[in-house]
Amino acid sequence: MAVMGIESSAHTFGVGISENGKILANEKIMYKIGRTGMIPKEVGQFHLGNAAKVISMAIDKSGLPFSEIEGIGYTRGPGMGYCLHIGMLSAKTMAKRLGIPIVPVNHAVGHIEIAKHRARLKDPVALYVSGGNSQILKREKSKNPHYRILGETFDIGIGNMLDSLARGLGLDPAWGSTVEQLAENGSYINMPYTVKGMDFSFTGLLTHALKLKAKESKEDICFSVQETAFAMLAEAAERAMLLTDSKELCVCGGVAQSKRLKKMLSMMSSEHNVKFGYAEDEFNADNGAMIAFVAEKLLASGISERLRSCDIEQRYRIEDARLWRE
Ligand code: FE2
Repeated sequence: MAVMGIESSAHTFGVGISENGKILANEKIMYKIGRTGMIPKEVGQFHLGNAAKVISMAIDKSGLPFSEIEGIGYTRGPGMGYCLHIGMLSAKTMAKRLGIPIVPVNHAVGHIEIAKHRARLKDPVALYVSGGNSQILKREKSKNPHYRILGETFDIGIGNMLDSLARGLGLDPAWGSTVEQLAENGSYINMPYTVKGMDFSFTGLLTHALKLKAKESKEDICFSVQETAFAMLAEAAERAMLLTDSKELCVCGGVAQSKRLKKMLSMMSSEHNVKFGYAEDEFNADNGAMIAFVAEKLLASGISERLRSCDIEQRYRIEDARLWRE
């Protein structure tokens, strides 16, 4: 079946179309983040002004007429309320006009499932790393399948930590990739390292790093923070893989675009004979295709929502998201 997915949880308004797991379109427009960061109302206005345009772009790219779209999904959360609302309203309007079923999707499920699909993995431990999230998860194959969180950050997501570091060092947006570029010419300085079992913490590392800015180079600070934070993630993911006896690992989410993180995870996985995979960058950045892909799976297994019951949930936890049986 051909299903459209709408993603609008943060700065991206994305529309994807999936047909039998094949991604026919993955179009997006991104709000430009300046030094003031994201003001939810402004980002929501941006999405409102661009929604119809991105939907048309996706339809054009797919080569399908509107009449062949058989279902629609949207991001229910987590994310910024105002932005989520615009995506939900766009999806509801389409569902009502076309008379097709609608289904809410958890944003994190979208990231993990598209990574699994693109990397051809069956049952991996998933390391989900983005601005606001850093979690290690595995699918529970119970009567009610769902993702179980094995480990997560005690404080902030790794993406937000890298952005805060970059802002503190006076770097330009996009901060995460600026840190990665500077790190290429850096040398290691000792940094605090905090892993407790499969959980980890980034604020101590950030505070310590920013205290060094008067006496150490930006390159050395970026390199050392990045190496330390990624090593923490790799250690926690390694423990999760061994404890669950998993033979596969995937990394997904915005920070999964980092080449250095993927290299470290790949090295660790090969030491354990574990298959390591990830999606192409366009699917790790926020995108509509991942929502379309999950919505198609949910709808095909008979899971949908009544139009009048559709809502958004800013703090929608992944453990609460219903999954299809595999
Ligand atoms: Fe995301």
